[in-house]
Amino acid sequence: MKILLLGSGGREHALAWKLSQSKKLSKLYVAQGNAGTAQIAENVDISPTDFQKIESFIIKNQIEMLIVGPEEPLVKGIRNYLQKNKNLEHLIMIAPDENGAKLEGSKDFAKEFMQKNSIPTAKYKTFTADNYQEAVEYIKNHSLPIVLKADGLAAGKGVIIPTDYITAENNLRMMLLENQFGEASKKVVIEEFLEGIELSVFVLTDGKNYMLLPEAKDYKRIGEGDTGLNTGGMGAVSPVSFANNIFLDKVKKQIIEPTLQGLKNENIDYQGFIFFGLINVKGNPYVIEYNVRLGDPETEVVIPRIDNDLVEIFEAVGKRNLDTIKLKIKSQSATTIMLVAGGYPEQYEKGEEMTGWENLKNVMAFHAGTIEKDGKILTNGGRVLAIAALGNDLEDALEKCRYGADKIKFDSKYFRKDIGYEFL
Ligand code: AMP
Ligand code: GLY
Repeated sequence: MKILLLGSGGREHALAWKLSQSKKLSKLYVAQGNAGTAQIAENVDISPTDFQKIESFIIKNQIEMLIVGPEEPLVKGIRNYLQKNKNLEHLIMIAPDENGAKLEGSKDFAKEFMQKNSIPTAKYKTFTADNYQEAVEYIKNHSLPIVLKADGLAAGKGVIIPTDYITAENNLRMMLLENQFGEASKKVVIEEFLEGIELSVFVLTDGKNYMLLPEAKDYKRIGEGDTGLNTGGMGAVSPVSFANNIFLDKVKKQIIEPTLQGLKNENIDYQGFIFFGLINVKGNPYVIEYNVRLGDPETEVVIPRIDNDLVEIFEAVGKRNLDTIKLKIKSQSATTIMLVAGGYPEQYEKGEEMTGWENLKNVMAFHAGTIEKDGKILTNGGRVLAIAALGNDLEDALEKCRYGADKIKFDSKYFRKDIGYEFL
């Protein structure tokens, strides 16, 4: 099987690492990849949103399976684009189509979808510039904190949670009237703040059957004790102790199954991952957001816990017989700690030399923002390297990660030492 994987972060390195262990793999390409994927696959310099070039590459290299890591090509309709080519009918795509990707690409669509399908989520209302005054009134009569969400993709920056009315109104004005997030904030979802612990739940579906993958918890804030600015994710753990059978049963019955049924009702033929961003409110799961891809850094702990051949699982998606595969999950715990460049998520340097690789042991080093130049590995992004480990329990896995995180050196290195703190 010749496979093309799109993306260039830690998520894609973890996927490439797992795919490269498959007996069924004959060749793996990653576009655009990073210094880590270059060690196990062939990096290809094509942007994941350059559909024309991807199409030509697939034809020229007889690619049989396409796996899409990030959301942008999905929301822009990569599946629909490639499906127009009759010569690509046999291409297996781990990628929902444009309509399915609206679950992530439009918060307003996702909220309406949840309401229609009685899926538990925060109460909300959507506004545009045309009913701006009504939105201001809505905020004034709402409890605090209040959640403002840009409708479209905003590179993870589109959610604002003001704790006073003046800030809320200022943010609303910037979003709706001053185009703070461009096209993405032409609509704004205003919703109720939910208090609880967050959890990421992942499902792979072939459009008919679904497979529940290991759950994970992500640490989004830059600072220890969950303080400071939001990031793409500073670390993750799996399993998550409160996600026991009782809780996961509620997730399946109240959230996953109604979501899949809802997609069918809308005639959306969904083949790919669904990432349920959940919050546990007093033992009951609510949906904070849908994503139409795997999470990063969650993938770096979810994938290492899977024992199956990943290519076999993806083939079953293509054949719509995912029900014939029994998912084997390791009983071990997995954790990851993200090494980032100092200053991230604001201004940071790139191009710092990374050393200490020979001192790593008992960990997987999934590259996120790295590049190889003249035989050296240099930093090339805010999130640089995800050190991941399996262990007998979270503590054991975390100890391995912290040891590894210490060994890798680059000038501005920073990482959180308290990942998983609430479970220890
Ligand atoms: P997102 O950028 O969509 O991942 O959202 C960022 C973060 O905002 C989420 O991970 C939550 O921590 C928080 N958030 C979003 N919606 C709510 C809500 N209704 N109640 C509480 N927190 C929320
Ligand atoms: N770690 C959260 C995300 O991938 O969106």
